[in-house]
Amino acid sequence: MTSHTASAPGKIILFGEHAVVYGQPALAAPVHKVQAKASVADSASGSGLVIEASNLNLRLSIAEAATHALAVTARLVLEKLQKPEPDALITIQSTIPIAAGLGSGAAVSAALARALSGYLGSPLNQAELSTLVYEIEKLHHGTPSGIDNTVVCYGRPVYFVRGTPPEPLRVGRAFHMIIADTGVTSPTHVAVGGVRERWERDREKYDALFAEIGQIAEQARQAIEEGNLGRLGPLMTRNQSLLGQIGVSCNALERLIDAAEKAGAQGAKLSGGGLGGNMIALVAPESAGPIEKALKQTGAIRTIHTIVQ
Ligand code: PMV
Repeated sequence: MTSHTASAPGKIILFGEHAVVYGQPALAAPVHKVQAKASVADSASGSGLVIEASNLNLRLSIAEAATHALAVTARLVLEKLQKPEPDALITIQSTIPIAAGLGSGAAVSAALARALSGYLGSPLNQAELSTLVYEIEKLHHGTPSGIDNTVVCYGRPVYFVRGTPPEPLRVGRAFHMIIADTGVTSPTHVAVGGVRERWERDREKYDALFAEIGQIAEQARQAIEEGNLGRLGPLMTRNQSLLGQIGVSCNALERLIDAAEKAGAQGAKLSGGGLGGNMIALVAPESAGPIEKALKQTGAIRTIHTIVQ
C-alpha cells in the first residue's frame, strides 16, 4: 500500500498587510505550532479520488465537487503533473483556526497539493506549490497579493513584494509573539474590498498611507535582520496606527492591542485583513504568560505563543 503525508503551517503577517496589495513590501512568518496535514493512501479500484476532512465535516469526490477549493486544488495538481485521477483517499486534519487570518485555507490547500504530488511520485517544489495555491487563494479572496500562499508554502519568514519572487527574511535574533484572536470573524475579501472602495474615492491620500506602511516594513526588515528588537515594537505601533487610518481596525482589536501594551508588550498590531480576526504582540519571553492572561481577560478567545526565527 502506498501512502504519503505532508503538512503546511499557519501564518501571521508581521508588517505591511493591505499596502502589499498595492505593491508595497510586507513581512510574514509561519506559525509552526498550528498545522494542516494531508495524507494520501490507495483506495479500492474504481473509487476515484476522495477528500475527507473530519474536522471540517467534509467528504467529497473530486469527480462530483466541481468548485470546492479542495477539489480544485487536487485537480490543479493532476493537470500540472499530467496524471490521471488515481483511486486514493486524501485525509485532511488541521489545527489552524478557520477564518481567523492565520492562513488556514492556504495551508490546507498547500498540504493537500504537497501530499498528492508526493503520492504521485512528482513532489512539487516550493515555488510550484505556491503558484498553485495562489490560484486557490483567488477563489477565496478575489485579489490576493500572494503573501499568504508564499509564507505557507515556503514555511519560513519572508519579505514579499507582489509580483516578484519572495526573499527570505533573515532573523538576526529570534523574537516572541503572542497571537490573540478577537473571536470576531472577518472575511479577508470584505476588508480588502472596503480599502479598495476608499482608495478609489481618494487615491492620493491612500497611496501616501500605503507608502508610509511600506517604509515601516522596510525599516522592520532591517531591524529584524540586525536583531535590533528594540526598534520593532514602536514600528508595530506605527503600522497599527496607519491600519486604523485606512479603516481596517475595530474596537475588539483596539481593546486587545491596548491590553497587551498595558501588560508590557513592546508593540502590538492587527495581523491580516483586520476588522476582527487576530492581533499580534511582541513580548519579552518572561512576560509572555502575563500578557496572554491579560489578553484572555480582555476577551481573546484564543492565544498562541510563537517564536519567529
Ligand atoms: O488572509 P489574511 O486575512 O491574513 O489577509 C491577507 C493580507 C492582506 O494584505 C489583507 C490581503 C492580501 O492579499 O495580501
